[in-house]
Amino acid sequence: MTVASFIRRKKAPDPHVRLPMPPAIADDEEQRYRPIDRVLLKRVLGLLAPFKGQYTLGVFLGVCMTILDMLSPKFMQWMIDYGVGYQKGALPGHPTHAGATRHVLMIIGTWALCIGGAIVFQRFTILVMTAAGERVQFSLRRRLFGHLQRLSMSYYDKTKLGRIISRCTSDVNSLREINVWGLHVICSNLLMMLIAAVMLATTTDWRLFVSVAWLGGVLVFANRVYLRKAASMWQTVREGWTRVSTNMAENITGMRVVTAFNRQMPNLGVFNRLQQNNTDNNVTMSRVNGVYQPVLDLVRFVGKIIILTYGGYLIVSGRFPPGKGVGAVVAASLYWDWFMNPITTFGQWYNMLMQAMAGAERVFSLLDLQPEVQDEAEAKPLPRIVGNVTFEHVTFGYAPGRPVLHDVNFEARPGQTIALVGATGSGKSSIISLIARFYQPQEGRVLVDGQDIRTVTCDSLHRQMGLVLQVNYLFTGTVIENIRYARAGASDEEVQAAARAIGAHDMILTLKDGYQTDVGERGANMSLGQRQLICFARAFLADPRIFMLDEATSAVDTATELMVQNSLEKLLAGRTTFIVAHRLSTIMRADCILVIDQGRVIERGTHRELLAKGGKYAHLYEQFVRHVE
Ligand SMILES: Nc1ncnc2c1ncn2[C@@H]1O[C@H](COP(=O)(O)OP(=O)(O)OP(=O)(O)O)[C@@H](O)[C@H]1O
Ligand SMILES: [Mg+2]
Repeated sequence: MTVASFIRRKKAPDPHVRLPMPPAIADDEEQRYRPIDRVLLKRVLGLLAPFKGQYTLGVFLGVCMTILDMLSPKFMQWMIDYGVGYQKGALPGHPTHAGATRHVLMIIGTWALCIGGAIVFQRFTILVMTAAGERVQFSLRRRLFGHLQRLSMSYYDKTKLGRIISRCTSDVNSLREINVWGLHVICSNLLMMLIAAVMLATTTDWRLFVSVAWLGGVLVFANRVYLRKAASMWQTVREGWTRVSTNMAENITGMRVVTAFNRQMPNLGVFNRLQQNNTDNNVTMSRVNGVYQPVLDLVRFVGKIIILTYGGYLIVSGRFPPGKGVGAVVAASLYWDWFMNPITTFGQWYNMLMQAMAGAERVFSLLDLQPEVQDEAEAKPLPRIVGNVTFEHVTFGYAPGRPVLHDVNFEARPGQTIALVGATGSGKSSIISLIARFYQPQEGRVLVDGQDIRTVTCDSLHRQMGLVLQVNYLFTGTVIENIRYARAGASDEEVQAAARAIGAHDMILTLKDGYQTDVGERGANMSLGQRQLICFARAFLADPRIFMLDEATSAVDTATELMVQNSLEKLLAGRTTFIVAHRLSTIMRADCILVIDQGRVIERGTHRELLAKGGKYAHLYEQFVRHVE
């Protein structure tokens, strides 16, 4: 193996350069490339700023590695020229055979030391740069996740889960290569080209430098043409791939429906078409690459031939500077290789940079989003809640100009149970969401203990509220972990006491591993009733002052219903409670029933009062009783 091939093998292609990978999770938006933009680049660099010490060290180590590496052609030059000089007997002082061997061994020894040093520097460069880059990734992900937790529900209503996840995964990942290797690659590649050019011009022979310098113009031109063509091709390839992966994800998620409607063959047809398109795009892309790479190789080859022939001519015609000979020509051809290496990998890095820019733009636009529900500047923590909840002329809609609640007024006194009754879509869950301050009313106020909830901190409000939603949510983990979710510091005994208090303890003990039973993803291993009991235990453990329960309409069996009913009573005792009620037993026991119709409270009162009134509620009740009979 020649030294040149040794160096080329080590340097080109760069070990850190990988071809772009398709996104891990299909996004509904197309993966876009973005031209490099100064403002955005500045923000990306801002991410690295907290770790500038580490990056400086990494770049310094990388520079040391490059310099040591780049001495190799020089050592070769010395060896060859010394050998040729010795053979011709033209060395000063005419050394003996042993003396010449000693001299050559000394060159080899120093060379080996340099290569050894470069390897050590390389190792530390990798360690330092990876550590710094991964920290940037870590802190970016943490910032994103923290930000997502602060965003209001309206953001989640509008944004698809897939898109949010791809912001945190593939978009952040697209920044990785740049965060880890960007600075190193820029600095060491520029240095490499600079050193190679200077070495070509000075330490070998300036005429050799001039003889290949014009090829630089050819390279600049080739790069411009290539980038213009490739940038749009990269975009097409990625769009095609996004379509394939989205199609795949959709069909796998909907596999039951696919099977039920016998859609396998038509789906395969669609998939084939998309896949064919993807393949065609890749082939076209490789055609573009297939022209560019050979052009680079050709330029490399032409440069090398020029250096070798012109250098040879200079030597033979005796016009080479004294003391320099064949070795200098060989060194010049090796420096030419070094000069070409960064150019060869430039396309890949440019591609990666554009992807990173697109990722960065999306990540930053998410980070720039302001939560709609925010604590006011002078918001104070809410002291222990007594339990008064008032709606004053509340009008609210999810989209501007389309209210779903109209001028809602009511007051719940401490300890009361308020049942919300009404047809589907009437606005019951929306009322609950406003009390929980997931959204902000467009008009009117929501008061807790006489204070507008906009003037208190969200934290202090949520800490004293319990919420069991229409769709229960359990997290992957065990039963005990899910109950403890309400209060991280609760001991096992406290968790069990909460479960006992609402009558879930016995049910939990019948599970496979008791409290340690894995609930599965989103509680998939549990029945609906079991999930509800676990959620009640969770709410009970939190010991909220205001409790909200959005009852699921889906019927559970009578035994579970009874169990849930009993535990509810325990759960509600002494707390102000809002229940979106579907069970007659719950409704009848409420201190006040609000009948909601198309976002308006049309009737209010106790069960008896409303029956006596003979209005909508009485009508609903009649229907219900008739249905039961
Ligand atoms: N996140 C949302 N974004 C936009 N509109 C919504 C959203 N949630 C509910 N709506 C609309 O607001 C209205 C009231 O919905 P809400 O969920 O409060 O009804 P509900 O009384 O709880 O019904 P159900 O008994 O079916 O749960 C409905 O017309 C619904 O389409
Ligand atoms: Mg609802």
